[in-house]
Amino acid sequence: MKRLSSFLAELDDLGLRGDLIQAGLPELGSDLAMPCFVLAKEQDLPPQTVADKLAAEVEHDEIERLEAVNGYVNLWLKPRFLAEQLLTWQAEHKNLGQRPASGKLALVEYFSPNLAKPISIGHMRNLFQGRAVKNLHLARGYEVVTDNHVGDWGTIFGIWVVGLLKFGQREKLERDGLKELGKIYVLTRQALRAEEAEGGSELNDQIQAWLIKLERGDKEAWRYHEFFSRISKEEMNHVLDDLGIDFDHTFGESFYREQLPGLLQDLEQRGIAQRQDDGSLIIDLASEGIKTPMLIQKSNGATLYASTDIATIAYRQQRFRPDKVVYVVGMEQQFHFRQLFALNRIAQLTEAELIHHSYGLIEELDPAGKKQKMSSRHRAVHLEDVLDRAYETATKLTLEDLDAADVKKIAQGALIFQEFSQGKKHNILFDWDRVFSLSDMSGPYVQYATLRLKAILQKAGGADYQPNPGYDFAAERKLLLKILYFEDVLEGALDSLELNRIAMHVFELCRELNRYYEQVRVLDAEAEARASRLWLMDVTYRHLCFSLGILGVEVPSRM
Ligand code: ARG
Repeated sequence: MKRLSSFLAELDDLGLRGDLIQAGLPELGSDLAMPCFVLAKEQDLPPQTVADKLAAEVEHDEIERLEAVNGYVNLWLKPRFLAEQLLTWQAEHKNLGQRPASGKLALVEYFSPNLAKPISIGHMRNLFQGRAVKNLHLARGYEVVTDNHVGDWGTIFGIWVVGLLKFGQREKLERDGLKELGKIYVLTRQALRAEEAEGGSELNDQIQAWLIKLERGDKEAWRYHEFFSRISKEEMNHVLDDLGIDFDHTFGESFYREQLPGLLQDLEQRGIAQRQDDGSLIIDLASEGIKTPMLIQKSNGATLYASTDIATIAYRQQRFRPDKVVYVVGMEQQFHFRQLFALNRIAQLTEAELIHHSYGLIEELDPAGKKQKMSSRHRAVHLEDVLDRAYETATKLTLEDLDAADVKKIAQGALIFQEFSQGKKHNILFDWDRVFSLSDMSGPYVQYATLRLKAILQKAGGADYQPNPGYDFAAERKLLLKILYFEDVLEGALDSLELNRIAMHVFELCRELNRYYEQVRVLDAEAEARASRLWLMDVTYRHLCFSLGILGVEVPSRM
């Protein structure tokens, strides 16, 4: 309970141990609880005896009640005291939970699609996680740099050039963009397969020749590279605009090509990389407990995905000197990052903490009721289509005359909240009904609760509410406690990068609010209670907007 730490420290003088005090036990509904097992050991007594003694003896102005159960002392605080704590916190910060600048820098790399492939629903998790990781660091006082490390390097460019020359027309490509590029890709792949079946290699040789030209910096090859990158990035930017996401940098893998030769040479000279008899270059990671060495240059001289990642670490260190680098990339690349981080421990390219922030798949039920990965190699579910469908659904479910911006906030809020309604490692089961459900942990549920608060505040007229000195806040105890826990929620989320903790906090707070309205009148309460309650409603409203904002959820003006 970080917000109460100075109070908890005071309790030490009374025989309690502030450092042992935790959140209250849900089954008792207590505010705080202290396990007595450590003290019992020190005093060589049964825990319950220690708890009984403390519960009977401790007295403190702000403690309303104490109870000893199963070796725990349970504490109930005076709700008025909780309100005062919140008032102090509010005076210190515009947004509860916002830390002042710490001087630390986090580099958050996310999205990073391969330019050859359509932006699919699989990228949705990445985008939502990445943006929230960024916002969380901003909230905790980090400076943040974001980088979209697009895959714009490798075989695909050779395929496109050869395919365009053989099957395509430039004008069509200019007009139809990525769709046409996809067609060219498929046709060329087919031709390659046919050629291989016949034992030929002409097309393949041409592709390799273009790749070598590209690696050597040939002007014509690079003009093609720019042309294809531009077409591919159009779709990418369209999705990003729609989601309101932008990046400080989109260097991409190809950006590092000029740094590669020097880096590889350096690694070889330092004895970190070993040249093999066939001319390839590998890094032995056995000293880090990884049996498979890392291949960083093929025998024909070509570099790989891993090589550009090494160059990226070096470049980021030199340019940004980050304290932390978070790679938001799916679980299937776990081994790659294990190798990469092990290599960094050996080569010491950066002192930054390197984190692979990985996440599971998105699944759906097939007609037989079995879970299936939602986008596969055979069938891509385009993210644009998912967004369109979400907009349609939101339009149907909400007020008829709602403007497009609000519909978008609701639709995206629903998708984002789905992302954070469970742990990142779990696969998500995509279910449109649940995404928009008003009774479940969903975007619409929390947006609705937030809007209800806003409506109350609007009806009350926009005065500057202050808690009344005589009001006891007995009915608001749970709400106050929940909000005061936010500091712990954010710290926990930052340590574990489990952003769903914030979503859970928001959801539980909204549920608590709904219970509260059932029992308590706000607008037509008597003057003393009314002002105090409106003060808390106002704090809660702003707190919810801020917490949702970290997740990337905006609150519509109506719904
Ligand atoms: N472009 C890669 C892919 O789509 C992801 C890049 C991840 N980032 C990295 N630094 N390797 O699979």
